[in-house]
Amino acid sequence: MTTGLRVALIGTGFMGKAHSHAWRTAPRFFDLPLAPTMSVIVGTDPERTAAAAERYGWAESSTDWRAVVERDDIDVVDICSPGDTHAEIAVAALAAGKHVLCEKPLANSLHDARVMTDAAAAASGQVALCGFSYRQTPALALARELIAAGRIGTVRHVRAQYLQDWLTDPEAPATWRLDRERAGSGALGDIGAHSIDTAQWLTGSAIAEVSAVLRTLVTERPTRTEVVGLGGIGDRDAPRVPVTVDDAGAFTARFSDGALGVFEFSRMATGRRNANRIEINGDRGAIAFDFERMNELEVYDVADEAGVQGFRRVQATEAQHPYLEAWWPVGHGLGYEHTFTHEIVDLVRAIAGEPSATPDFADALQVQQVLAAVEQSDQDQGRRTAVEATT
Ligand SMILES: NC(=O)c1ccc[n+]([C@@H]2O[C@H](COP(=O)([O-])OP(=O)(O)OC[C@H]3O[C@@H](n4cnc5c(N)ncnc54)[C@H](O)[C@@H]3O)[C@@H](O)[C@H]2O)c1
Repeated sequence: MTTGLRVALIGTGFMGKAHSHAWRTAPRFFDLPLAPTMSVIVGTDPERTAAAAERYGWAESSTDWRAVVERDDIDVVDICSPGDTHAEIAVAALAAGKHVLCEKPLANSLHDARVMTDAAAAASGQVALCGFSYRQTPALALARELIAAGRIGTVRHVRAQYLQDWLTDPEAPATWRLDRERAGSGALGDIGAHSIDTAQWLTGSAIAEVSAVLRTLVTERPTRTEVVGLGGIGDRDAPRVPVTVDDAGAFTARFSDGALGVFEFSRMATGRRNANRIEINGDRGAIAFDFERMNELEVYDVADEAGVQGFRRVQATEAQHPYLEAWWPVGHGLGYEHTFTHEIVDLVRAIAGEPSATPDFADALQVQQVLAAVEQSDQDQGRRTAVEATT
């Protein structure tokens, strides 16, 4: 009989919904070594949290994460609350002997990320992963396999953009994502962090040095909010508060293996909804990906016959592609929610001792170090800034 795994999820918003779906779906489509139980969901408002429990399928609701992480009948704590809560919850959960999945970026500061990584290292037999969920996109996992197998040769260029447009309207309200105290940074930590993680994971090489510029393009926004998706509708008559994070930014990077990187991230890129793109050029080939066409990977191979060379469009929906064994006949694509289901599959397998799932807290700390170097470089007018070695 399969042993159970009792889960507590913190947060009832966007990621609370995505992770709830994933916990429900993962054991129904994948053969898992442990059987998750959706025990309790934790939020801030009792009625809304109870409604979330009912809707998403959790047995109980609570507004007290401290009490929940101490419970003997909880094995896993899944943190889906804003960045300012990550460190305190993760450290308490690890100290209480729980496995932890923490949303990205790992923390709001390098200091907190270090404390969390130390707590994970000190925990014995516990798994601690960070939710850089694009790693679990089949087309990107395929890209990683191809690059690791040498299919594009030595990597020379990494070109990454993560472009959204939900802050284009200057009247969009100031949610927690625009408050440095709560979010740590703006587009940089929210979406740029994904590009940094993806680029380093795909290439197997760390970013060693950056030169950056960050900009806040709309400096104050209305407070009153009707939250719709990530942004919402502001009230023109409401008091305005300063925006204390970046709206957009860019940096160039030198990877430790010598490759050149160019990164751009914005939540004001009009017309781009969730264009998480990456192109990597090696001396024997290249790959290109755009999450807006998430089932496709473009692959270029210099060994192709002259005259018919060009990027070919591979649909990452074949049974042999990563994670596809559980899903549909070839060509019947997957969606955003599948990446989270795969994340839960990896987590549950790691808890059962199966081959390593990523990214762990140490990987996420390394991303945090790049974020810190980008902010430092921007403060120093774009000066080339070394990324601290992870020690
Ligand atoms: N992996 C991804 O692609 C991805 C996408 C979006 C967000 N995120 C990350 O997920 C996290 C949450 O983002 P979101 O979009 O779900 O935000 P959200 O605003 O939609 O939801 C946040 C939730 O946290 C809850 N919360 C806040 N403080 C709490 C506390 N003290 N105790 C219990 N609950 C608390 C709120 O009630 C709310 O339900 C952030 O770290 C964000 O960066 C990751």
